[in-house]
Amino acid sequence: MPAPNGPHTPDLFAHHTPEPTTQQIGAQAWVLRGFALPWVDQLLPALQAIQATSPFRHMVTVRGFTLSVALTNCGSLGWTSDHRGYRYSPLDPLREAPWPAMPEAFSELATAAALAAGFADFAADACLINHYLPGSRLSLHQDRNERSFEHPIVSVSLGLPAVFQFGGFERSDKALRIPLLHGDVAVWGGADRLRYHGVLPLKAGEHPLLGARRINLTMRKAG
Ligand code: SIN
Ligand code: FE2
Repeated sequence: MPAPNGPHTPDLFAHHTPEPTTQQIGAQAWVLRGFALPWVDQLLPALQAIQATSPFRHMVTVRGFTLSVALTNCGSLGWTSDHRGYRYSPLDPLREAPWPAMPEAFSELATAAALAAGFADFAADACLINHYLPGSRLSLHQDRNERSFEHPIVSVSLGLPAVFQFGGFERSDKALRIPLLHGDVAVWGGADRLRYHGVLPLKAGEHPLLGARRINLTMRKAG
C-alpha cells in the first residue's frame, strides 16, 4: 500500500483527536464514545480520595452470594447490599459515616452526558463505583432501587475494556453486546430505564492509566 501522506498531501491525522461519536442502543439509550476523556484527569485523583475514605469492598446479596465486583459510593446516597436486601443508604456501613461527597467533576460529567443523550437537568445524588478485576462480572439486572425511574442512569467506563450487555425488560430477553472502552459513557433512561443490563467477565489486560482493572461510575438520582 502506498504511504497515505505523500509530500503534497496534508497530514490530516497528525493532530487528530477523535470526535466523540454517539451510538444509539435503544429509543432513549446511547453510548457516547470518549465523552468522559476530557474529565479523566479530574476523575482519577477524585477516585483515589474516595477510596482512601470508603474503600472498595465485596458485598453479599440477600441469597448469600458475594458480588464479584468490589464497590464503593460517593454522594449523599450510596447503594448497598447485605443479607437483608438492596437499598440506598446515606451511610457507608463499613464506617457508619456518610459516603464521601460527590466530586464536582463527577456531577458535571453526569449532567453533561445526560444532556448529550437528551435528558435535561439531570442532577446525580448517588454514584455507585464498581471495581472489576479480570474475571469479574455483573449478571443481568435492572436498576430499580431508585425512588423514581424518571431520571436516567449515566455510566462512565474507565480502564480495561468490557462487554456491556443491554437487554430487554425480561431477564431472558436477548441482550445486545456493546464494547465499552476507557472514557465511554452509556446513558439510558425514559422508555429504556428499566432494561436489564450487565457486564461479561472482564478479560485480562493492562490499561496504561489504571492497570489490570476496570472502574465504572454509575451516576443516579436515587433519592
Ligand atoms: C451497573 O450496572 O451498575 C454497572 C454497569 C457497568 O459496569 O458498566
Ligand atoms: Fe446496573
